[in-house]
Amino acid sequence: MSGGCPYFEKRHLLFKNKPPVEEDGDASQDGVNKASRGGIIYGDYLRLDKIVTAQVLQSELKGNKIHDEHLFIVTHQAYELWFKQILYELDSVREIFTSGHVRDERNMLKVNTRIHRIVMIFRLLVDQFSVLETMTALDFFDFREYLAPASGFQSLQFRLLENKIGVPDNLRVPYNRRHYRDNFKGHDSEMLLTTEEEPTLLKLVEEWLERTPGLEIDGFNFWEKLKINIFDGLNREKEKTEKMPDSEEKEELTAELAKQRELFSSLFEEKRHDHLVSKGERRLSYKALQGALMIFFYREEPRFQVPFQLLTSLMDIDTLMTKWRYNHVCMVHRMIGSKAGTGGSSGYHYLRSTVSDRYKVFVDLFNLATYLVPRHWVPKLDPSVHTFLYMAECCDSSYCSSEDSD
Ligand code: HEM
Repeated sequence: MSGGCPYFEKRHLLFKNKPPVEEDGDASQDGVNKASRGGIIYGDYLRLDKIVTAQVLQSELKGNKIHDEHLFIVTHQAYELWFKQILYELDSVREIFTSGHVRDERNMLKVNTRIHRIVMIFRLLVDQFSVLETMTALDFFDFREYLAPASGFQSLQFRLLENKIGVPDNLRVPYNRRHYRDNFKGHDSEMLLTTEEEPTLLKLVEEWLERTPGLEIDGFNFWEKLKINIFDGLNREKEKTEKMPDSEEKEELTAELAKQRELFSSLFEEKRHDHLVSKGERRLSYKALQGALMIFFYREEPRFQVPFQLLTSLMDIDTLMTKWRYNHVCMVHRMIGSKAGTGGSSGYHYLRSTVSDRYKVFVDLFNLATYLVPRHWVPKLDPSVHTFLYMAECCDSSYCSSEDSD
């Protein structure tokens, strides 16, 4: 080949240490066996000796090997490995919040990336049930007796995950009048207790939302401005409706406006909010709720885009966990009908009651859509807040400083 092509020259240099290709050999299959030079190899790096030998079929031990038990075990192990990865990401996110690193807003991108990764894993977990569903109820029946009293109810990682995200103890569906922690002993039980006491993702997000810029009463005072605009808007709508000739449409509009007024009056009543929080129907503090609504309204402002993506991902986690519970209970129904579970619960009926808003940690974010108003009712950001929102670097603003939260 004639000279002059730098790409060729480079390739030539890169590959110059390769052993010469045999005349009749297949060059595309060429390679260097680096493993022969020492260093860690694939199987050792991944501890495959442990992983691929961990499928012990109880049916085989009992002398009655049932083929599908292998799939049953591998599926559960795959779930547990992904739970582990979720916990790993979740802990790192909680660490960014608790260590105050969230002061530097550049870290919010890291938070978002990891939370988004959790969302992607959950997507996979929701779909993964379909592989196990290739097993029929009869196939399962053949080996079910061998695994009792083992049950997913005893999955430590699943409970840690729920607790760390923020499923509160008092909202859990009771099962056989027993506390969920009774299934765990010693160190596992202590770990669970710790996760009940330490700040949950919900709590950390709540504190962060309370620092949303623009909420300051002596500053932009978003909440007061929003309240004025909404009631001005409703009054204008009422005046317009009153001028209409009497008709069915007028009656309907008047009733609808009265409902809207009632709805927004409740939004601006802090006592009512606190009452709903005490009943577990709302989960965020009043101030955090205001911050979340502000992020929803101003999501197109550069500084609010990343926070908006975070709120969206948090709702995705709740949605996907609900879908996980739903897919799981549908599979359980098909596998065991309404028989009791191996863990001692009523089975299908118990699990069905967990597919509920009680387990939706970020339920308030979903409900915010109830309070969306026409764009022109949203207070215009004044120039100072606007400039402030565009600042890329972290500063002594209340948004990035945890000290300013109190
Ligand atoms: C044939 C397949 C399955 C059946 C029949 C089944 C059955 C059940 C039943 C009856 C319960 C209620 C507790 C009890 O009384 O035992 C339960 C709970 C649970 N299972 Fe499964 N399960 C299956 C597959 C899975 C898989 C693949 C996972 C993945 C890790 C899983 C994870 C869990 C978890 C975490 C719970 C506790 C849920 C809660 O309390 O909210 N299960 N399962």
